Amino acid sequence: MNYPRKVQVVDVGPRDGLQNIQTTVPTEQKVRLINGLTRAGVRRLEATSFVHPKWVPQLADAEQVLAQIERPEGARFMALIPNLKGYERAKASGGVSEVALVVTASETMNQKNVNMSIADSLEQFHAIIQRAKSDGINVRGSIGTSFGCPYEGEVPVQTVLTIAQQLWDMGSDEVMLADTIGCANPAQVYDLFSRIKDRWPDRPVAAHFHDTWHLALANTLAALQAGVDIYDASVGGLGGCPFTPKGAGNAATERLVFMFHVMGVETGIDYDALLEVAEFASSLKPREPVESVW
Ligand code: COA
Ligand code: ZN
Repeated sequence: MNYPRKVQVVDVGPRDGLQNIQTTVPTEQKVRLINGLTRAGVRRLEATSFVHPKWVPQLADAEQVLAQIERPEGARFMALIPNLKGYERAKASGGVSEVALVVTASETMNQKNVNMSIADSLEQFHAIIQRAKSDGINVRGSIGTSFGCPYEGEVPVQTVLTIAQQLWDMGSDEVMLADTIGCANPAQVYDLFSRIKDRWPDRPVAAHFHDTWHLALANTLAALQAGVDIYDASVGGLGGCPFTPKGAGNAATERLVFMFHVMGVETGIDYDALLEVAEFASSLKPREPVESVW
């Protein structure tokens, strides 16, 4: 089997995981979660988001979290931002070396998520990327609902490819494709990532799966075979988008890391230490059963 022998695992639990918990997790618990992850060897994390606190009250303490976490050598902290205001807050915090700009491949979902059209999101990104370049901040362009939308259903592959092209053209350092509601299947994942890798073989491309139908590991394997070597995951399998009906937690970091290690794929993460963090993360919110995403 052909696949990369080394991957980067980005834990997005502190953002994607915690944003969907009904009760707000205290700042000190968030800090403990992040410190646990970096102590376990995770070197890239989505630590929080700079969004409107009324929209996502769970992450209203973004600045405080970033001010309090440990920063071991080599650890990179990213924050999700939806607009210019979010970028300004991220920059002012002084706590992130990269930002994830979020847009979705479905108009309806983009409206629900960030109250803007896709074109308006991309226009703001253009301005943000110019600023980020001169500020020395790395930019990831995240394309949500790349594999299907809870409102519009099927998402044309061409739409995803066009947005990816626009993100590269603007100067994005990385592009991430997210299966926001966990509706992707391995054949679809292999197909889409193969097209992306064929078209942009040398560009960093990341995958982000949710585990609604327990296909996140199968989808990860499909992406791995297509050559993807950057994976988002959420410790303890927390996660989900508050602006989608249903949907479930992210691919659990510990499950991905287990699969990678038994396949001989290096992650740099200490699995046993990660399991302890997973236990703590799970105590923040038990997983709930999910029926259907459609
Ligand atoms: N952080 C904090 N405040 C923000 C903000 C940000 N990133 N962006 C806008 N605001 C403030 C504005 O300053 C303005 O404040 P004012 O009323 O005191 O002048 C107010 O919010 C309204 O601004 P507007 O640009 O009209 O925002 P909006 O109401 O259309 O909301 C977003 C747009 C993007 C801020 C909002 O949709 C959002 O935060 N979405 C979060 C999506 C998310 O996190 N999804 C899950 C992850 S994919
Ligand atoms: Zn997600």
